[in-house]
Amino acid sequence: MPTTVGTRPQPISQHSRPKTVYIKTYGCQMNVYDSIRMNDALAKDGYSEVSNMEDADLVLLNTCHIREKAAEKVYSELGRIRKLKNRRKHTMRPLTLGVTGCVAQAEGEEIIRREPAVDLVVGPQTYHRLPDIVARASNGSAVVETEYAVEDKFDYLPAPDSKRTRSRGVTAFLTVQEGCDKFCTFCVVPYTRGTEVSRSARQIINEAKALCDAGVREITLLGQNVNAWHGDGIGDEEWGLGRLLQELSQISGLARLRYVTSHPRDMDEALIAAHREIDILMPYLHLPVQAGSDAILKAMNRKHTAAEYISLIKRIRQTRPDIALSGDFIVGFPGETDADFEATLDLVDKVEYAQAYSFKYSPRPGTPGADLENQVEEAVKSERLARLQALLNQQQVNFNQSFVGKSMDVLLEKPGREDGQIIGRSPWLQSVIVDASSGRIGDIIKVEITEAGPNSLQAVRSLDA
Ligand code: 5AD
Ligand code: SF4
Repeated sequence: MPTTVGTRPQPISQHSRPKTVYIKTYGCQMNVYDSIRMNDALAKDGYSEVSNMEDADLVLLNTCHIREKAAEKVYSELGRIRKLKNRRKHTMRPLTLGVTGCVAQAEGEEIIRREPAVDLVVGPQTYHRLPDIVARASNGSAVVETEYAVEDKFDYLPAPDSKRTRSRGVTAFLTVQEGCDKFCTFCVVPYTRGTEVSRSARQIINEAKALCDAGVREITLLGQNVNAWHGDGIGDEEWGLGRLLQELSQISGLARLRYVTSHPRDMDEALIAAHREIDILMPYLHLPVQAGSDAILKAMNRKHTAAEYISLIKRIRQTRPDIALSGDFIVGFPGETDADFEATLDLVDKVEYAQAYSFKYSPRPGTPGADLENQVEEAVKSERLARLQALLNQQQVNFNQSFVGKSMDVLLEKPGREDGQIIGRSPWLQSVIVDASSGRIGDIIKVEITEAGPNSLQAVRSLDA
């Protein structure tokens, strides 16, 4: 049930002009997707999106709780917005301020105690009720809603609107699964996003078709544990992600498919085979391992060894030799010795990543890791992170440079930062900068790579294209 905390003086607001919303998104791609769906839900209620906080009647911070830094950023931003809200208090345009996402779920009412300027706190499972919650909060009562809704929010959120989808570009995210049952001992996700829930195949296929009808050419399926997705297929069959990808690959207009984030234990044979069988499934896989020492993997409750991960990578590469691997790493998990850390470097050496994210361990309240006694000193974490990042960066540079002089297909996505440029995406998720005359946004063109930097490639359109 919704909780209502305290009452506020009634704002003097008459919304004769259209209401406006600004959502600031923190954290992962699932939050990016959620912000889009929240914008769509609010659009139905007459809100139009603005790109500037000062122009908004409603400001929402869609937050991330994964590391302490991410959560603390939210409170400093709330402090800044409080000043804007105070300036607007007795004007014709009072500002309503809300916190959504994982900090909202994890901290609930505590957010309003820490920052009383906040009018509403809404967890990720109740976004479909947002218009109603905002209406109540704008009427003077602070609303906290972090219960898990009994109904499925996806049945209530509006379908992607074609005009709005088109304006967002030719690539789109589509959440197929939320939550996690793995309980890695460092991670808050099972607590903030709840246990694993898969959306139905039917719902996903319909949403994908709507996106493609609106001009989307590339869809990235999202889930905290995306490859744990399973659901009723057509008929009585239980489908896994590999089978779902097969079905999605048949949608007309769709040129590229991706999925993120996967857990090594859920890489089943059908999904590995999908990388050989589905030509529009891009040769890129984000498969976090977190650490390379078996003792640390065990303490993290990852439920596999380093050798098992490496042999999995071997099988995936045998199936799809040009696949690019990406990963997540945590250094300084409690108890991590120098030798444990060396084992991580060793694993990275063996795998050779195209790209990776790495973090210092951040103890999260409520997770088992936070209570362990043998926490690693901050200076040691920093030193290990620097060494790991130097190695990963070198691998990324090597990977990018291996393409110089070669040709590849690029999906043109958006105008470049400089006039006359257009930015595309390679099959391996690299940014590729080409001359704007090479084609239009949404085209897939063949290019030749002329230069490679750490974060992007330069290319010219192939003459034979
Ligand atoms: N500290 C540091 N990094 C973390 N991650 C998750 N929880 C923590 C934590 N407590 C990292 C993991 C995960 C990525 C999304 O964030 O590497 O894969
Ligand atoms: Fe967190 Fe582990 Fe679940 Fe990933 S698999 S969301 S790291 S608990």
